[in-house]
Amino acid sequence: MSTFSHIRGLGFYVPELCYSNKDLEKFVDTNDEWITTRTGIKQRHVVEDETCLDLTYNAAVKALANAEMEAEELTHILVGTFTGDMLIPSTACQLMERMGLKNRVAMDLSAACSGFVYALEVARALINLHPDAKILVCGAEVLTSRVNWEDRSTCVLFGDGAGAAVLTAGNDSEPGKVIDTLLSSDGGPSMNLTVQGSGSSFPYKMGDTVGDEYFIKMQGREVYKHAVRSMTAISNEILKRHNLTAEDVDVLLPHQANLRIIEAVGKKLGVPREKVFVNVDKFGNTSAASIPIGLADARESGFIKDGDLVLLATFGGGLTWGSSLIQF
Ligand code: COA
Repeated sequence: MSTFSHIRGLGFYVPELCYSNKDLEKFVDTNDEWITTRTGIKQRHVVEDETCLDLTYNAAVKALANAEMEAEELTHILVGTFTGDMLIPSTACQLMERMGLKNRVAMDLSAACSGFVYALEVARALINLHPDAKILVCGAEVLTSRVNWEDRSTCVLFGDGAGAAVLTAGNDSEPGKVIDTLLSSDGGPSMNLTVQGSGSSFPYKMGDTVGDEYFIKMQGREVYKHAVRSMTAISNEILKRHNLTAEDVDVLLPHQANLRIIEAVGKKLGVPREKVFVNVDKFGNTSAASIPIGLADARESGFIKDGDLVLLATFGGGLTWGSSLIQF
């Protein structure tokens, strides 16, 4: 049996509280028309009492049920996030404890919005090294804890949520096969998208209060251009590597940051609009959770059908980006 990595189950969870664009109008100088035309976002889910761990746990439980597996069977837990409950312990270690597990390999992975696809590739490498591995890969964020609610250019863009996938080895013909993943990053333009507070370059001094460095800051136009360019290029590269073209793609699932970015990537790749999955209108940008929420949502709604070839494209702070091909 060849050691391929297969997605056995998917699940996602978002908090109940949901702010529409109209709701935001009450406390930020914005309007539904601006947000809708510039981003395609209509609403976003926001935590009240829950934390990143709670969201991750709920998504994980659903993914395990979907895989028809028990938590006890897991050997590794990977969580892509930059908004975990604490810097230490990791969300993955806390999740292991919440699931009643001990002596597993658990770690968080920081690649901003690309965190899930980066973790997916780590899982694939682990399965190659340890073919008996059963790996829970999560992407989870509480971004609303890191937005400046007085900065209208960023606070309207983000939402909270978590998604999870369970991966094990399988053979070539089984569904859910991760055919390949390509990743890349570039620290050059990294300051275009930052969350600096809590890092050692902003040491806490006696009497300090939280400042602007604590929040997500972004040069929107620069990030937009880089996102479109890099997601298109890496998607073309992975297709070429497998002698595939856009015509072979049944579903394109790009990082759900902004409808204009999603549509531009689809157009440049030559994937027809009806094959491009979009749920940014419902959830906003949930960073590392966006791709696994998208996969679970698209599978549940039937947008991704049995046998579909799915092309993932992701992009985030770092800057980081990547692409995966999955045969469902
Ligand atoms: N509501 C109303 N007006 C707003 C606003 C809001 N929420 N946010 C900004 N504006 C205003 C600005 O103040 C500016 O007004 P001015 O012309 O009077 O100065 C105007 O809208 C244009 O602002 P600008 O920032 O130039 O808009 P833009 O066309 O670049 O769109 C983004 C802003 C953020 C939607 C766009 O740059 C983008 O999508 N970037 C990528 C963001 C992203 O997805 N990042 C995550 C990647 S992982």
